[in-house]
Amino acid sequence: MYEQVSHSLLNDILERLNPEIKQQQIRRFYTRLGANFYSIYSLFYFLYGGRDDFEAQAQRLVETMARQYISRSDTLKQIDLEREKDHNWFLSQQWVGMALYTDGFADNLKGLESRLHYFQELGVNMLHIMPILQCPEGKSDGGYAVSNFRQVDDRIGDIADLQSLVGELQKRNILLTLDVVVNHTSNEHEWAQRARQGDKQCQDYFYTFPNREIPDMFEQNMPEIFPETSPGNFTWDEEMGKWVMTVFNDFQWDLNYSNPAVFIEMLDIILFWSNQGADIIRLDAVAFLWKKIGSTCQNEREAHLILQLLKDCCQVTAPGVLFIAEAIVAPVEITKYFGEDAINAKECEIAYNATYMALLWDAVATKNARLLYRGLKSIPNKLERATWLNYLRCHDDIGLGIDDADIRAVGYEPTEHRKFLIDYYTGVYADSIARGLPFGHNQKTGDARISGSLASLVGLQAAIESGKVEDIDNSVDHILLLHSLIMSFGGIPLLYYGDEIGTLNDCSYLDDEHKAHDSRWAHRPNFDWDRAELRHQSGSVEQRIFNALKKMIAVRKEIPAFADFNNRELIQLDNPHLFVFSRFNLQRPSSGVLVVANFDAHPQYLDLTAVSHALPMHNAPIRDLYSGEMPALFKDQLVIPPYRFYWLSE
Ligand code: GLC
Repeated sequence: MYEQVSHSLLNDILERLNPEIKQQQIRRFYTRLGANFYSIYSLFYFLYGGRDDFEAQAQRLVETMARQYISRSDTLKQIDLEREKDHNWFLSQQWVGMALYTDGFADNLKGLESRLHYFQELGVNMLHIMPILQCPEGKSDGGYAVSNFRQVDDRIGDIADLQSLVGELQKRNILLTLDVVVNHTSNEHEWAQRARQGDKQCQDYFYTFPNREIPDMFEQNMPEIFPETSPGNFTWDEEMGKWVMTVFNDFQWDLNYSNPAVFIEMLDIILFWSNQGADIIRLDAVAFLWKKIGSTCQNEREAHLILQLLKDCCQVTAPGVLFIAEAIVAPVEITKYFGEDAINAKECEIAYNATYMALLWDAVATKNARLLYRGLKSIPNKLERATWLNYLRCHDDIGLGIDDADIRAVGYEPTEHRKFLIDYYTGVYADSIARGLPFGHNQKTGDARISGSLASLVGLQAAIESGKVEDIDNSVDHILLLHSLIMSFGGIPLLYYGDEIGTLNDCSYLDDEHKAHDSRWAHRPNFDWDRAELRHQSGSVEQRIFNALKKMIAVRKEIPAFADFNNRELIQLDNPHLFVFSRFNLQRPSSGVLVVANFDAHPQYLDLTAVSHALPMHNAPIRDLYSGEMPALFKDQLVIPPYRFYWLSE
């Protein structure tokens, strides 16, 4: 959009551009800058317009984008152009992701490169490699306490290794997702160290306070993220002689985005990793980006504006790169990270579907889908050109991010119900087959979250302990049932490394003093390649899970109705054990798919006439696209065995 104030500022900026930028032929950069500048200006002005140095900061912003554009490779610029033309490319059902720790999976980046065939064997074509940036030896929060944002951690390799990996990934058409931890740095980051030594400019990169006056005001409304290990939101730094805001661990200093220098630095870092070949950047803890006294300091409007500004700037320099919002917040808040009041996504194109994840775990524990329906109905439709990451497990704990009103609406009392779920998954509940561990228990509020691997949470560990074949079968069925629901829901399914071979909890973390207090390490395994070999042994648990997932992925890729265009209808039935939704293809109405899942331990029946509108040619024989077989019918009713699913079509 053309607007005079911003346009004349843009003219001034271009006039003053550094000669080394001016002499470059960067026509496409200028076109994109012109197209986005009004929006960039408005956001930048809203956030920083009150400052005397506003124009100088705007100049730095544009020069930062231009420099990174100049250093972007021709290959990546070509990919940008292709993606601009095919802008819905990531909504396709072709993409299937996996998240992993480099060292946990393959020691280092070179090892990972040598294992790429494993992903191809399974059909995974989007890798999320968890933080690879330099972080301290002990206090690293699994890589999320970064001490150098521009360097690969030398324990896993260097930039050359990453470059080589990127080349191989591109050849194989596998997307790369990298983390940029935007909310905080390690206390060993250079900025923090300089702040400690009294550098005022660097102190301004963080929230520092000489006494408790302001911190105490903040504390009145801020929840605690790691209440057991890092209570409170501020840490006293002896050397600096000041309090510093540390919302997560006491060694993670929150960055101060009310300082434009911080914004520009972090944008530069995002563009730097985009230029190293990341297709997708996962922005960590985005809900926390703006701090305001009197608020919870989460989901503030300015946090959204910062993301919009990051997106606008990234579109100028690296328009093919997507953002993932890691915002594990209340259901109604999550969709806002696609961009509020927009038609197309204008913040992050992808967001973790933490609500679906939590609701699926509810359905497993209760063996019914009542809350799953209710919770999903409360989520607003996502924007166009936006999609979900659907996942069951990740490197973090399971938080029960379910709306209290929804819990009440299906007849449970929220506090009691949450307690039941925690007890069920952490083995307190007598009949539970789950072997999870509590995480983040807050004695003041009673809140808790859950750690544990997928297989251990659905009973595989207990079944192996008891040696009961039937229990092993049930847990394998659960693993497949849950995966079938993230593969078919709409969005990118994100598998978690090890789940494809039924990896159990790994308690070796208890022997490491830096990990022992953090039960999330129970599900951050060192991948067991010997067990993975068993995927070739017929009848082994590993083979049953791996092969089934491989098949599910292959079938998913063949079903256009599984692409994500808000083309889903939840179908609520009287039977609470069944979860049913239809996926339709707007171009080819007859090629829809009816997804049917049974969360119960007993077979359930589905009257096909009740779902006939979702199977338009319901007189034709129905087929399960996953198995390729006709499912069992009894008196015109479909029979769904315990913990099983169908992807039905005609
Ligand atoms: C994100 C990460 C989590 C980490 C936190 C603080 O939520 O996923 O592992 O502990 O940020 O950095």
